[in-house]
Amino acid sequence: MEHYSMNLNLKVWRQKNNSEKGGFKMYRVENISSEMSFLEMFDVLNEQLVHGGEEPIAFDHDCREGICGTCSMYINGKPHGPWQANTTCQLHMRAFKDGDTIVVEPWRAGAFPVIKDLMVDRSAFDRIIQAGGYISVNTGNAVDGNAIPIAKDKADASFAAAMCIGCGACVAACKNSSAMLFLSAKVSHLALLPQGEPERKSRVLDMVAQMDKEGFGACTNTGACEATCPKEISLSNIARLNQEYLVASLTANK
Ligand code: SF4
Ligand code: FES
Repeated sequence: MEHYSMNLNLKVWRQKNNSEKGGFKMYRVENISSEMSFLEMFDVLNEQLVHGGEEPIAFDHDCREGICGTCSMYINGKPHGPWQANTTCQLHMRAFKDGDTIVVEPWRAGAFPVIKDLMVDRSAFDRIIQAGGYISVNTGNAVDGNAIPIAKDKADASFAAAMCIGCGACVAACKNSSAMLFLSAKVSHLALLPQGEPERKSRVLDMVAQMDKEGFGACTNTGACEATCPKEISLSNIARLNQEYLVASLTANK
């Protein structure tokens, strides 16, 4: 497809900090290339704002390669925008047409308070991982990969779960702000491997307890999380999490 350039209207959420009320502001950007990434388009807008003496829009980004999970923008009512299995940084402007109005908001969830503009505080996810997302390892050289045989289907399922980049889109998409898809990915990738066995029960109990403490909502199986996840984390992980939790609650010596 031919490259093209477009003029766009942007309706962007601006909020000074967590205690002040935010609101939408309209901006106009011109001559945006269809091959720019969404974040590059925001860079252009921010330069424009700085030149005009206005404060640039705060937004999170790091890798711009779809792997760090920081680029949290709610674009036209969808976390990470209109493309399937995609992050905001990998969204390109060819997803839009000349003259479009694009609405951009931060993730909306009580457990992810807005820091400024489009930046939210996702440290609740860090605390959930700290509660149990680790394994015990002996010091010394790493064990040879072939020394621990793992069935192919288990290795594949574990790897698929480990793809979660902790972006929080699942929480933002869920009407209950549930973190179950994220947590199920983190629990599954370790529960499926022999290396995760020693802390298998305490891990799931501690991580679920931390999730509840952070104020995420309950899962009612609407599937909005799976549909929006940039890494296509499967709902089947939530079924595994529930099973892991049940077995651990019935049998753990805690
Ligand atoms: S499960 Fe998907 S949407 Fe949720 S944090 Fe992980 S990568 Fe992001
Ligand atoms: S900036 Fe790293 S995933 Fe988008």
